[in-house]
Amino acid sequence: MKFKDIEDYRKNTLNVVVSEEKIREAVKKTGQSLNEIYDGTPLLLVSILKGAFVFLADLCREITVPCEIGFMAAKSYYEGTSSSGDVTITMDLQQDISNYHVVIVEDIIDSGRTLKSIAEILKGRNPASLRVITLLDKPERREVDFKADLSLFTIPDLFVVGYGLDYAEYYRNLPYVACIES
Ligand code: IMP
Ligand code: MG
Repeated sequence: MKFKDIEDYRKNTLNVVVSEEKIREAVKKTGQSLNEIYDGTPLLLVSILKGAFVFLADLCREITVPCEIGFMAAKSYYEGTSSSGDVTITMDLQQDISNYHVVIVEDIIDSGRTLKSIAEILKGRNPASLRVITLLDKPERREVDFKADLSLFTIPDLFVVGYGLDYAEYYRNLPYVACIES
């Protein structure tokens, strides 16, 4: 469902789930630990579009070791708030990842289907190593067995928007993570 008009958009109340300040602190800390782990090794940060673009943009600016950025896109959610169950890669990496230490940077793990299949695909390409970092994790919603190496925030079973995450393509530009009060 899209919004009927601007009034329809504005009437929604957003309740903060993770504040801008908490995100900033956690992203900074994550960047610092990546700098220690990957000091001097060829690092490739792989972001899954579109949801992870804000997280990647902030995280990569905390990285002080040499790193490259790559993008993939996968579809698992269509409009609305429920998963279709299928995952399709709609955009792939350009580079051969066999020389890289790869870090997947994701916005959220919900059912776990998207990351499980992307991680399997990338593992099959023999990277030097593979780690998965997610901004948000909703462990209560897991449908497949998958765990990130690092989750910055664990949240309850709520549909959230902001900091890259959308509802029908809206709200990606919010600087914090919120849920929509209905
Ligand atoms: P999964 O495959 O079910 O783990 O989730 C895949 C994708 O669904 C995530 O990368 C998000 O793009 C989207 N998604 C899951 N939960 C939410 C949410 O609460 N808000 C917005 N998007 C979500
Ligand atoms: Mg996503």
